[in-house]
Amino acid sequence: MATIDWDSLGFDAYRTRTVVVAHYQDGAWSDIRLDESFSFTIDPFMQGLHYAISCFEGLKTFRQKDGSIAMFRPEKNAARMARSAAFLGIPAPTEDMFIRMCALCVKNNLEFLPPYGHQASMYLRPLLFAPHPQMQLVPYPEAIFAVMCAPAGSYYGAHLRSAAAVIPGDFDRAAPKGTGSYKLSANYAGTFVPYKLAHAQGYAELLYLNSATREYVDEFGSSNFFGIKGDTYVTPLSDSVLPSITNLTLQEVAADLGMRVEKRPVPLEELAGFSEAGGCGTAVVITPISHIDMKPVLAEPLVSRTFRYGPDGEVGPVCTKLYKRITGIQFGELEDTHGWCHKIEE
Ligand SMILES: Cc1ncc(COP(=O)(O)O)c(C=O)c1O
Repeated sequence: MATIDWDSLGFDAYRTRTVVVAHYQDGAWSDIRLDESFSFTIDPFMQGLHYAISCFEGLKTFRQKDGSIAMFRPEKNAARMARSAAFLGIPAPTEDMFIRMCALCVKNNLEFLPPYGHQASMYLRPLLFAPHPQMQLVPYPEAIFAVMCAPAGSYYGAHLRSAAAVIPGDFDRAAPKGTGSYKLSANYAGTFVPYKLAHAQGYAELLYLNSATREYVDEFGSSNFFGIKGDTYVTPLSDSVLPSITNLTLQEVAADLGMRVEKRPVPLEELAGFSEAGGCGTAVVITPISHIDMKPVLAEPLVSRTFRYGPDGEVGPVCTKLYKRITGIQFGELEDTHGWCHKIEE
């Protein structure tokens, strides 16, 4: 039995017990395999490595207040992975297979599922990649689908804290009509160096603008953007933004709480008009943003403009309300009126 300090978990790769694996070859998926070796044998020429023919997902599983286990909206992740796979031209698991393998991963790593009461959960990472050795730039009908997991903390413990973000003038995330709306491994490669530069200057997040004109807000490097204006929840409509499941959930929660929801292009100038702003994604649910600096060159000191939403660390009432509602449903403390929690039998 692993001894884990459930209260000081971060968000990181973790060696649990089992990875759940299936292989699509010769027109069909193999049987599902429970792998405890934590290693793959790969061909050095494989497409996944050379051409980034690889996509992934991220979703969470919760030990709820009544002791049951629930995955949060896994069918949405299954659909998003199928969309990414179609873009890459590789086979995708069906929704049923995706959910079954995620559930198997939880059941075969139960000692790593944080108990209720620690604001922690189990992060599931489904990965789909092309193992076929091939030089030509054409799809080949072979894929490995693997689901791994890691216990994950809430980032904040019981209390949300706001963080600073920066708009880098010299980096873009996604091209128009490019790959930005798919959860491709390749999309993240270009964010590593900008994140390193941003973190070194105390910024938790990078906020990317639309790369065609740099006049509209797209999204953060690892989460969607939302702003609060009066009782309206505003989030960008853009072809190059990842369709975040947390954002979708927040929009539904905001509507449940009587707020208006606007999904539309968000001009850069509008950042000055929000009372609160945040990032949203599976890992953190909400990252409230204290201020956003614009920098012409990320590595250089000059800040050309600042949008401020509150003192660093402080969190506005709407972000707090939305966060509590979602996490309350995830931990089974509030009624799941939408049927978002997919229960797993032990
Ligand atoms: C670029 C990007 N945008 C948004 C999100 C949020 O998506 P989701 O809420 O489905 O986790 C993620 C992943 O978490 C992401 O990597």
